Amino acid sequence: MKIVITRRIPEAGVETLVHAFGTEQVRRHEEERPMTRAVLLDALRGATAVLCTITEKMDAEAMDAAGDQLKIIANMAVGYDNINLADAAARNILVTNTPGVLTEATADLAWALILGAARRTGEAERCLRAGLWEGWGPLQFLGASVHGKTLGIFGMGRIGRAVARRALGFDMPVLYCDTNRLDAETERQLHARLVDKDTLLRESDILTLHCPLTPETRHAFTLREFKQMKRGALIVNTSRGPVIKEEDLSAALREDLIFAAGLDVYEHEPAVHAALLKQEQAVLLPHLGSATVETRATMARMAAENIVAALSGSEPPNRVLLPS
Ligand code: DGY
Repeated sequence: MKIVITRRIPEAGVETLVHAFGTEQVRRHEEERPMTRAVLLDALRGATAVLCTITEKMDAEAMDAAGDQLKIIANMAVGYDNINLADAAARNILVTNTPGVLTEATADLAWALILGAARRTGEAERCLRAGLWEGWGPLQFLGASVHGKTLGIFGMGRIGRAVARRALGFDMPVLYCDTNRLDAETERQLHARLVDKDTLLRESDILTLHCPLTPETRHAFTLREFKQMKRGALIVNTSRGPVIKEEDLSAALREDLIFAAGLDVYEHEPAVHAALLKQEQAVLLPHLGSATVETRATMARMAAENIVAALSGSEPPNRVLLPS
C-alpha cells in the first residue's frame, strides 16, 4: 500500500491516514508549494491512493505514472476540475471531493469581496498605508451601497445558497441563474427568483459566481456579458478563475462598464492578468475561499476518510461520478 499526499496539508488528514494504514504507507510531501510535474509523476509511481489538491493536474499521464494499482484520487477540495473524470473512469479509479464543509467559509469570503469591492477597502487601505491620507473628506473613496441592492447569483448550489442566506441581513432581493430550480419554500425563504442569464446580467447590482468550472461555464463572462451589466454593478468570483475572461474584465473596468470586481480565483493561477493588478477597482485575493484553520482541517480529514473507505472496500462517502 502506498498513499501519496501531494502537498503539506493539515495534520488531521495525515493522522487519519497514518492511524488507518501506518506511517510507512503514507508518503507525505512536505513542500508548501506544488511539486513540479516531473517530481509529481515520480512521486505517484506505485501509489494505491493519492490525496491531492487543486494544484495537481490528475490526468491520464498522472494516472498512468501511478500505475494499475491506483484505486482512488481524493481531492482536498470541493471543485475537481483538476481531475480528468473520464480518464479516471476508464481506469476504474475512484474520485472523491470534499463537499459541504467549505460552504460557509467560502460564502463568508464572497461577502468579504462584495463589501471590499463595493466600499473600496483595498484602495483606501493602500492610500492610508502609503501615508497619503490627509484626513476625512466628503467625497473621499465613495463606494457603492450594498444594503437593499439586488444580488445576482450565478450557480445556486450550496455556496450560492449560503451567500443568499447572508444577503437576508442586507435586505437584498436575490436573482439566481442555475440549471436547477430551488423548491418554492427555499425561494421564499431566500427572497430568491430564478431568472435567465441575460436578466441576471441586466438586473443585478452585485453579481457573484458560484458555479463549477465546466466546458459550459468556461468564459461564461466576457466583454459581451460585462456590456449587459449595470454601469454601477460589481462582479465577484470565488468559483474558478476561467469562468471569467480576465482580459475582458480588465477592459470592462478600464472602460467603466462596471464599478468594481472582487476576485479570489484566476484564469491562470497563480498568474494574474497584469492590467488587473494595477486596477484599483479590483479587489484581488489569492484563492482563500476555504482558508480557515477549521475548514482546511476538516477538508483534509474528509479527503483522508474517503481514502480509508475506498481502500477498505467500501464506497467512499464523497464519490464524484462522471456526468452521464
Ligand atoms: C475548492 O475546494 O474547490 C477550493 O477552490 C479549494 O479550497
